Amino acid sequence: MVSRMSLERKVAQLIQPQINSFDAEEMREYRWGSYLNGGNGGPYGDEFAPASEWLRLADEMWDASTQPLPDGEPIIPTMWGTDAVHGHTNVVQATIFPHNIALGATGDPDLVRLIGAATATEIEVTGIDWNFSPTVAVARDDRWGRTYESYSEDPELVAQMGAALVEGLQGKKGAEDYLGRGRVIATAKHFFGDGGTDQGVDQGDVNGDIDALKSIHAVPYPVAIEAGVETIMASFNSINGTKMHGNEALLTGVLRGEMGFEGLVVGDWNGHGQIAGCTVSDCPQALMAGLDIYMVPDDAVALHSSLVAQVRDGTIPEARVDEAVARVLRIKQRAGLLGPDAQRPSARPNAGEYDKLGMAPHRAVAREAVAKSQVILKNDGVLPLKPGADILVAGVAADSIAQAAGGWTLTWQGGRELTNDYFPGATSIWAGIEEAAQESGGSATLSADGTFEERPDIAIVVFGEEPYAEFAGDRKNLIFADTEGLELLRKFEEQGIPTVSVFLSGRPMWVNRELNASDAFVASWLPGSEGAGVADILFGAKAATGKLSFSWPANCEGNPLNGPDGALFALGYGRSLDDTAPLGDLDEGCGFLDGAPAADWFVNGRLSAGISASAGGMDLPNLRGEGGGVVARGIDRNRQEDARELTFGPDSSFTVSGEGEGAYIITYNLPAAPAGTVTIASGERTEDVTRRMTVAAGKGWREMVLTEACLGEFGDGLTIATNAPLQFSIAQISRSTLPEGTECSF
Ligand code: GLC
Repeated sequence: MVSRMSLERKVAQLIQPQINSFDAEEMREYRWGSYLNGGNGGPYGDEFAPASEWLRLADEMWDASTQPLPDGEPIIPTMWGTDAVHGHTNVVQATIFPHNIALGATGDPDLVRLIGAATATEIEVTGIDWNFSPTVAVARDDRWGRTYESYSEDPELVAQMGAALVEGLQGKKGAEDYLGRGRVIATAKHFFGDGGTDQGVDQGDVNGDIDALKSIHAVPYPVAIEAGVETIMASFNSINGTKMHGNEALLTGVLRGEMGFEGLVVGDWNGHGQIAGCTVSDCPQALMAGLDIYMVPDDAVALHSSLVAQVRDGTIPEARVDEAVARVLRIKQRAGLLGPDAQRPSARPNAGEYDKLGMAPHRAVAREAVAKSQVILKNDGVLPLKPGADILVAGVAADSIAQAAGGWTLTWQGGRELTNDYFPGATSIWAGIEEAAQESGGSATLSADGTFEERPDIAIVVFGEEPYAEFAGDRKNLIFADTEGLELLRKFEEQGIPTVSVFLSGRPMWVNRELNASDAFVASWLPGSEGAGVADILFGAKAATGKLSFSWPANCEGNPLNGPDGALFALGYGRSLDDTAPLGDLDEGCGFLDGAPAADWFVNGRLSAGISASAGGMDLPNLRGEGGGVVARGIDRNRQEDARELTFGPDSSFTVSGEGEGAYIITYNLPAAPAGTVTIASGERTEDVTRRMTVAAGKGWREMVLTEACLGEFGDGLTIATNAPLQFSIAQISRSTLPEGTECSF
């Protein structure tokens, strides 16, 4: 079949654009081998489109890709990949399962297998073939914004859960229904080291002895391969400075040579563009390193053209293209997409059976997973709640299904602006408590701000992290800084009302203050659409069996914690409902909270008095103007001209100086990676920050924390210099006293 395909069509099998960047006409012309919807993608531009529109698009692309070709060239239908990472949660009405961190806390692979099967069925309803799941990251620094996509810090637990999800999605290898009815193609991701980056910076660098790194981060892959995973996604991170998308030694040498993987390797979202020397539309290096499919959301035609040319000019041996194409065709054949029995998406089993989205048996599995994932960290005897109790439920999160679902929910980032009407059939944590309270002969009242008429017997405060995904969730430390929950807890404590905390988070966090102010405290993670599972534990309808799959920090600095040293609660900790052993008072000291208030040097578009900015010795009044090859102009971030865009010419520098002490904290946005070297200096030492700026590029507004760890000493000014054109924006510069030893971060 490969030998009868034209070079253009072969290369097209290796290209995967996103649905909002091409149409059926382009699909008919190029015959892209696969396509995806990104976290913010939806059919015909509508990410809240009904399931029928998802299926209609699948049919339209199938039809376009199966039009006749000249000269008897074989027709290769396309296939659609999606991120159904905690249920088919791109689609309204789908069951929203707890995120992986919660599934790790259940310790129940059979349950995870059921979740995979339910998810696969709901994916088939919309005509989609391929799920970019499971994530088998072993998150080792909980500051990472994708910690919640990891089952555990323990490689073995991750391996067990990942393999279970693969079997749930694909079916058991060799079984009758393998990749058949109710089954879809799975992806183990992101190979490898995604959970091991320096300071947990998403897409960052993983440093260390390669065998030591493999002994943690590569462990889940042989197990997933053994379970039959058909595809593996390359990771954004680099290993000792080499980006995984271009890392032949690991992508081919280890994955193929050592682990014997025979499926296909798909790239991550323009991940090939991060390889030194590559752009998103010109990157033979990735294919030569072992990538089979380029996930190239918006530049498919340009990449297709360059790859075809590079085969023609010998840069890429055609044999390498043929090898990759064969892998794609083999998977399509196994998935029933090739040959006389291949069916149009809407003709397949489950397709168009929209009542299977969020169907009761699936929601029951999700509710069981919620209950089994709740980890009781503290209980002074108030749990299980007394039958007949009058309960007040407080916190803005209590009735927000979106906040309970976290990222990758209807949109990429999720968020509380997705009100409950976006989630038909779902049950908020509040609604589950209300029902259970009434069933027990008591009552429940929702009061987000904690006020009440009738004094309640007990108050449940639901609070936690607001949804995020990927690098948007990266943190500098593990302080849970929002004080809504703490203030509610302390207010009830003053009123002598016992409290139960239900903490929503994508990771363990420093919550010593909240723990001290609670009579009981439950780590609820990100439970999803079946919030009644939380009440099942609070009222004792089900036994509390959840155990931490991550070590929980005793201090707030957030340094990597993967073991009992420094842990408040160790991996595997979790109370049964009858464990009311006192926790004792916890230390509420935290250097980041105790330091002197930050002194602002530049904020809201104003340079503070006594602070000056200059470039090449030329003054930049109020951080505007030009000099020494630098141009500083006002731009709008949140308000008119509240930020500055700095454009550096080659060999130019920018200095800000004045009286102050402590770390420099700069809110900045670096659209593109530096073309040359970037250094920072304060006092005598000059530090090369090129690599760390490169990792921070393209991730929107971030916070740069410059301490003596990288500056050596705090001079009375800070200079940023570069030898090549550079552009970035600054919204704030301040100085703050941080705990001794705080690392620099970008
Ligand atoms: C994202 C994620 C990856 C996901 C892909 C497609 O950036 O890194 O996990 O599968 O892009 O949405």
